[in-house]
Amino acid sequence: MGFNSLNTPSRTIMTPGPVEVDPRVLRAMSTPILGQFDPAFTKLMNEVMEMIRQVFQTKNRWAFPIDGTSRAGNEALLASIIEPGDKVFVPIYGRFGHLLVEICERYGADVYSIQCPWGEVFDPDVVIAEMAKISPKVVAIVHGETSTGRMQPLEKIGKACREQDAILVVDAVASIGGVEVKTDDWFIDGLIGGTQKCLSVPAGMAPITFNERIEKLILERKKVEAGIATAEDEQYQRSRMAIASNYFDLAMLMDYWSPRRLNHHTEATSMVYGLYEGLRLVLEEGLKPRFIRHLLHEKALVTGIQAMGLKLYGDSEHKLPCVTCIEIPAGVDGESVRKMLLKEFSIEIASSFGPLQGKIWRIGTMGYSCRKENVLAVLGGLEAVLIRHEVQVNRGEALQAAMDIYAAEESAMTIL
Ligand SMILES: Cc1ncc(COP(=O)(O)O)c(C=O)c1O
Repeated sequence: MGFNSLNTPSRTIMTPGPVEVDPRVLRAMSTPILGQFDPAFTKLMNEVMEMIRQVFQTKNRWAFPIDGTSRAGNEALLASIIEPGDKVFVPIYGRFGHLLVEICERYGADVYSIQCPWGEVFDPDVVIAEMAKISPKVVAIVHGETSTGRMQPLEKIGKACREQDAILVVDAVASIGGVEVKTDDWFIDGLIGGTQKCLSVPAGMAPITFNERIEKLILERKKVEAGIATAEDEQYQRSRMAIASNYFDLAMLMDYWSPRRLNHHTEATSMVYGLYEGLRLVLEEGLKPRFIRHLLHEKALVTGIQAMGLKLYGDSEHKLPCVTCIEIPAGVDGESVRKMLLKEFSIEIASSFGPLQGKIWRIGTMGYSCRKENVLAVLGGLEAVLIRHEVQVNRGEALQAAMDIYAAEESAMTIL
């Protein structure tokens, strides 16, 4: 049986990931392969580390990608610091909080969690009060919850973690590169970013960073594994077990992403090229202008959606700028709308998970997908498809409202 050559349709991807990849990244990924210890490649590795530091707003020595999708970053950080029986506290406000719990449990943690209703975030004081009761070794929390489109304020929680001597691990998979994430200023000890969202690089790597507090935990554990720690050393009594994962053992990965260059895995060379170019694009645009661009397109989208007569989902004060959640009008088959949008307009939007399945649509405005033509296309397409589904919308209003936002922005730029 013969197979056709690869011929994928051209799509406008307006989901919360994976999103459209910048053509410059795609070109970079077709660069010829280098050996993983070739000095030309190790120079690139060092540059990728430096660019991660800048995008993550940190001075940490350790900043490198984990091979695997974003959860590989979560798993590497958590697996390397959690020892069986450790207390880990996870405040959950959507699906990806549950993922953190699952990973921690698999590595033997004693997990404590609290939940708030989906569509909301936690009052930091509630998290801090709970921490004081539990005294966890690790607090793990999501910054941008893709499933509900909310963003958890972290600075106060970070400060409290430092004061209470807890390690703070943050999943910033959905927010990095599109929204302010201040690793050092917010006292975050370990942070995971995603490639396939606001960085507009394909899925397949998870850039992470961690500070010396986490480095110390990892190195102490390595001493145990090497049999250097003494039996009298109380701190090590409990942790006689090696990190359960070879692939995600940060101690080994640190030896690879440092001048020692000790062999661990075979590096995903083309992904490093893609990440290099994706990070370079972020820094070329500048962090602040990039965040402002995400806010502008969010404003145009939200204004258009509301002008159409649709209702936004969730607590507006804590909306994640790069994910807009829309309530599916009563009686409308949300999946049928998504299917028609894809078939007739080649535009993809997302549904959601768990309790929100069938209740909301999610539209992403992330990275390279976060452009005027994409926002206008999704508004126009959605309106047409809703009319086909006999939904009463304010016809013709959405595009005009969004275009007004863009026009106002353009005239403000001309005055400047
Ligand atoms: C906030 C968040 N964390 C973690 C993940 C898991 O990422 P992946 O599916 O790339 O492993 C996602 C994926 O959408 C996410 O949105």
